[in-house]
Amino acid sequence: MNENFKPDMQKRPRRLRASEAVLGLCEETVLKPSSLILPIFLTDDKGVKASAVKSMPEVSRHSIESALKVCEALLKRGVKAVAPFPAVDKRLKSLDAAESFNPNSLANRAAREIKKRFPEICIFADVALDPYTSHGHDGILSANGNTILNDPTVEVLAKMALSAAQAGADFVAPSDMMDGRIGFIRQTLDAENLQGAGILAYSAKYASAFYGPFRDAIGSAKKGAKPLDKRSYQLNPANVREALKEAALDEAEGADILMVKPAGAYLDIIAKVRAQTALPVAAYQVSGEYAMIAAAAQKGWLDFEKTMRESLLGIKRAGADIILSYWADRF
Ligand code: PBG
Repeated sequence: MNENFKPDMQKRPRRLRASEAVLGLCEETVLKPSSLILPIFLTDDKGVKASAVKSMPEVSRHSIESALKVCEALLKRGVKAVAPFPAVDKRLKSLDAAESFNPNSLANRAAREIKKRFPEICIFADVALDPYTSHGHDGILSANGNTILNDPTVEVLAKMALSAAQAGADFVAPSDMMDGRIGFIRQTLDAENLQGAGILAYSAKYASAFYGPFRDAIGSAKKGAKPLDKRSYQLNPANVREALKEAALDEAEGADILMVKPAGAYLDIIAKVRAQTALPVAAYQVSGEYAMIAAAAQKGWLDFEKTMRESLLGIKRAGADIILSYWADRF
């Protein structure tokens, strides 16, 4: 042994890792089912009860009937919140995204049915135009197709949020990243006597490559096409201050919950938003994060159960109160 090596043997941190009991007592972060929200993909495709999403092993698109079964099973596990995302029929997509505020859209019908059968489930309705536009962008395009128009998009988003709240959504969740949408949606809901409907703002939503499998799932990406460039509205992955500014604006405009998305590659952002606000902070463990672990586990390269829990724990430890995760139903 090196004679110069004189560790301080008075200090033995391993005492606190000596048994399951001590480990349990000293555990700092706890994951609980009631902190999770399950995103559910919906389809109107009759005959297909549950169609698999190829790039997301073990995730399916559900009919409303089958989504109700998912809700029932979730409640048994103690998960009480869902975020439905519709795969919209191509024939209903358009340049003006009018289907997004149809009271009888797939998403709104699902919200009404879920609320009727399971009033105790909290529904977070997505508010963004990408499932409804023929081009897949989250907004209305200028006539020459080169720009996403902010204010005309916000008008449609407010109509969409209103129709979702009227269908029974407990929270509307704008995931579009247009300027000023939180304030405008808040005013619109209040003017219609929907003061009780909350807003979960996707405040720091990055222009991320991790969304690939989601765009397959809801069919907002054209087959074989290059991924859409959403950098004129979603955030630059290199930026921190910009996310904090967006979070502060959304809070000032009346958001009830602030979200960071994706989660795993943005733990620093979660921690910083947590430090900046007294509002609950949510994080979205997105489709690509799911796909990476699910695919490696399928190959036997990772232990699914342990990796899944560790990935969620990291997000919670970084400061997220609420986590959207595709394995909320398996946790
Ligand atoms: C867009 C939206 C996206 C996701 C949910 N809503 C991203 C995008 O297509 O730009 C991604 C969710 C995921 O990847 O799990 N409004």
